[in-house]
Amino acid sequence: MRKKLVVGNWKMHGNRASNALLLAGLKELGPWSAQVAVCVPFPYITETALALTGQQVQYGAQDCSAHEQGAYTGEVSSAMLADLGCRYAIVGHSERRAYHREGDQLVADKAKAALAHGVTPIVCVGETLEEREAGRTEEVVKRQLAAVVHTLTHCIGEIVVAYEPVWAIGTGRTATPEQAQAVHALLRQQLRAATQKAEQMQILYGGSVKPDNAAELFRQPDIDGGLIGGASLKAADFAAICRAAG
Ligand code: PGA
Repeated sequence: MRKKLVVGNWKMHGNRASNALLLAGLKELGPWSAQVAVCVPFPYITETALALTGQQVQYGAQDCSAHEQGAYTGEVSSAMLADLGCRYAIVGHSERRAYHREGDQLVADKAKAALAHGVTPIVCVGETLEEREAGRTEEVVKRQLAAVVHTLTHCIGEIVVAYEPVWAIGTGRTATPEQAQAVHALLRQQLRAATQKAEQMQILYGGSVKPDNAAELFRQPDIDGGLIGGASLKAADFAAICRAAG
């Protein structure tokens, strides 16, 4: 039986004061039986780590460099994330693919760099509205995951996958549980062909997950939790989603 995982993706939100309030709220409302983590902006990792001391909630980053170290101004290596105790790094989020032109191979290289330092990459895949309407969903998500499968080879079983249809992110338009399950089943099938660990791997759904739709999404057989954007910024909403995963 796979354990459910709920990950908050704070994106570029928050400040020291609001983060402290949010984390205190989670402390008050937890713990949950699901695994829970928050992926916070780089500058706040250390304070998040301190605030979460002794709690079940884990933490991570929203990106990492594909490079080990060196003259890469502005980049943050996975060794640094490991040094700060990060459990997770999101890689290949659609906002990075779209606004920073990250391609499939770069995303795969980032996942590899994270794993090399014991940081679990949460690899995001997902189609745009245009691609869905053109009937290309399957082709797009399979291509995105295939790059990671080829690059990580026998380590592929160590990652977390997040299916995030681009048209559902921050739009209030959630994929129906059936739409999401269909893609999750495809992804699991693709993983089965690559690793014997496919049944234990967590495949998260992301895209306008809210307290009122989380439970039904999480009931689907191949949906193992969620990657939560907007709703992770409100302690009560995030806690309700964590409860729904319990
Ligand atoms: P959302 O974002 O929950 O605000 O749609 C999800 C994500 O981008 O990870």
